[in-house]
Amino acid sequence: MNNLSHAARLSPDMLNAIADEVGTPAYIYDVLAVEAGIRRWIDAVGDPARISFAAKANTNLAVLALLERSGVGIEVATPGELARARAAGFPEGRIVLGGVPKSESAVRAGIEAGVGMIVLQSGHEVEAAIRHASSYPHGPLPVGLRVRPGIRAGAHPSLETGRADAKFGFAPDRIPEVWERLASADRVRPRTLAFHLGSGLDAVDPYEQAVELMLSLVKSLAATGAPVAELDVGGGLGIDYAGDRDPEPAMLVEALAARLEGVPIELRFEPGRSVVARAGGLLTRVLYRRERNGRPALVCDAGYTDFARNALYGAEHAIVPVEGELTGEPIVEVLGPTCESGDVLGTNRRLHAVRPGDLLLLRDAGAYGFVMASNYNSRPRPPELLANRDGWKVVRPRESLEDLWRGEVIS
Ligand code: LLP
Repeated sequence: MNNLSHAARLSPDMLNAIADEVGTPAYIYDVLAVEAGIRRWIDAVGDPARISFAAKANTNLAVLALLERSGVGIEVATPGELARARAAGFPEGRIVLGGVPKSESAVRAGIEAGVGMIVLQSGHEVEAAIRHASSYPHGPLPVGLRVRPGIRAGAHPSLETGRADAKFGFAPDRIPEVWERLASADRVRPRTLAFHLGSGLDAVDPYEQAVELMLSLVKSLAATGAPVAELDVGGGLGIDYAGDRDPEPAMLVEALAARLEGVPIELRFEPGRSVVARAGGLLTRVLYRRERNGRPALVCDAGYTDFARNALYGAEHAIVPVEGELTGEPIVEVLGPTCESGDVLGTNRRLHAVRPGDLLLLRDAGAYGFVMASNYNSRPRPPELLANRDGWKVVRPRESLEDLWRGEVIS
């Protein structure tokens, strides 16, 4: 098997040509893999309108436009993501403004844009929605409430979002009172209960537990005159970064559909990582070899400013040489060039044969890759490319040095 075939199906020739013409580091997204990623979800769910791709995983306009063409919707967390979704061609009705903390002006931006639904997760947001609902262009404003179900889903501690001590959403016992408040307000239509347990999950039981809890809330809300029409179960399904046994969307969808049998409620899913992670790679060139703590280390031109997942969560992504094989003991560290010792891309690798000047591909970087890149150390952010069997295209150029200080003034 070609080292590179696992993620982006990119040939060594293509990657060498990209490095020569565009330079490194560079993000490359495989069109076929993006399409396959969303297709798995559409096949599992049936109706693309029940899927809201979580834009935070990858907001490149070309990637979003590919997803838009598949017919799915999109979940946006901020006015910035909302504007990107519109720029990529998503019709307003297919946009959900999601359940992360929002300022009054963010809630208002969603209302004025006419999005399909807004998920509210604090009293402040509920009042903002009621205050501005009359600006909604399509009748009563469809809203959801995010519930904090109090469930540990088994994610990395930074990525757990449904626990009782999480900062998101309402505790279940507050839902009836808040739902009533919305149901009795003018021009607002509460319709959805939402949750999001965490990210990088591989088991279905935490979702099943959360759905059971939601069903008990649904019962208690039946008498409010605004019955719950939809459960939005968030995103969270992970991928197998260490291998190729990704949890299947169909497994989740079937398990939850079984729980809802006979209950007239629709399901909505907000997958991010499981759609696009496999489709992206970060191409980087090795600058130096050195010893660190008695072990060989490779210092690359990509660092944690370009790809933060190892530095932030200790995430180990496969890193493969574009040419050559993995050899020797798994002890080689892959480091970035910036001024911090925590600038690590990978540890314990079999990259002994790699020499300065060689190209490496950090795989499965299509989700939470470029979107979390920063300009720390005044490093221009890398370009993003789309590739398919016929060739490749730069869909966002490398930032220039002038981009680094755009808008700054010397007073
Ligand atoms: N819906 C909501 C409300 C969310 O907060 C998220 C992710 C998703 C959907 C999509 O979750 P996914 O299917 O991608 O797991 N930067 C981290 C991931 C943070 C995810 C935050 N919320 C990482 O690199 O792993």
